[in-house]
Amino acid sequence: MSETPSRGHVPVMLAEMLSCLAPRGGGRYLDGTFGGGGYAAAILQAADCTVWAIDRDPAAVARGAALAARFPGRLHLIEGRFGAMLSLLSARGVAELDGVVLDIGVSSFQIDDPARGFSFRTDGPLDMRMGGDGPTAADLVNTLAQDALADLLFAFGEERASRRIARAIVAARAEAPITTTARLAGVIRSVLPPDRSGIDPATRSFQALRIEVNQELAEIEAALGQAASLLAPGGRLVVVSFHSLEDRIVKRFMVEATGRAPAPSRHDPRGLMAREAAGFRLLTARALRPRGEETAANPRARSARLRALQRLPAPQGAAEGAAP
Ligand SMILES: C[S@@+](CC[C@H](N)C(=O)[O-])C[C@H]1O[C@@H](n2cnc3c(N)ncnc32)[C@H](O)[C@@H]1O
Repeated sequence: MSETPSRGHVPVMLAEMLSCLAPRGGGRYLDGTFGGGGYAAAILQAADCTVWAIDRDPAAVARGAALAARFPGRLHLIEGRFGAMLSLLSARGVAELDGVVLDIGVSSFQIDDPARGFSFRTDGPLDMRMGGDGPTAADLVNTLAQDALADLLFAFGEERASRRIARAIVAARAEAPITTTARLAGVIRSVLPPDRSGIDPATRSFQALRIEVNQELAEIEAALGQAASLLAPGGRLVVVSFHSLEDRIVKRFMVEATGRAPAPSRHDPRGLMAREAAGFRLLTARALRPRGEETAANPRARSARLRALQRLPAPQGAAEGAAP
């Protein structure tokens, strides 16, 4: 798969994604995380199919116009959240798909642009919103109570020094609001010296804030059931995630969908899966990881994990005993 529409984002695990999605002529696919369009371009090139592509970032959708022009009538771009895919698609008359792909996280376009405020390596406004609405990271850092801030850093950053960092943030903001990435990173580094891992002490806190600002885990929770419900018989769901919190949600959902674990209760928002449990089979017995050559060429691929699920082509019940 040669052509990538931008040099800004190198698609991760592209070959593995394509082989799990297996696009076919006449098929209808959703790329829920359009980004730089690398996945969408690859799917459009692999088969004479139609792709709907969602991204919550207006800049990503605007960039996609060039790709849409290259595949007239075959790529439909939608600005919105993949957690609302069902309503976004039904508003466009789409009720069934042959495949859904999610490549969760931020794109290099976003990380590498200091003005977006995702990176502690460059200075910029402390924003971190993938879309244009909702509270920024600066809003959280300057308004959350110290305990709430510490809980957030611990839950979404798995930051063991969360209490110490929250205390330092509250002290620093009492002097002046924290409005830039460099100042926040400086506050964190002042109480958490680098360890031998070489990982910047600000890494986990920035991750936690980004997850909260964009409600990333809630988005994934909302999206998986909707994606599964959109799949036609034989349709496939492929998810690439970049940290263990996301992967855990994806893994649990997929395993439950195959009927291997207790189905969620009727009161669970994913209750639809209870009815359809065992209507799916895993295409990946365990998460696929990027090959060594890929991580050597693109260090951002290092933590990627890919999991895939297929709605069984046969009637319900045929799933019993389905092998991964
Ligand atoms: C890792 S990039 C995708 C890269 C893409 N697969 C490619 O090959 O260029 C993730 C993209 O998903 C978008 N995104 C993340 N969460 C989203 C959500 N909940 N709804 C819609 N888009 C989202 C981000 O704005 C970003 O552009």
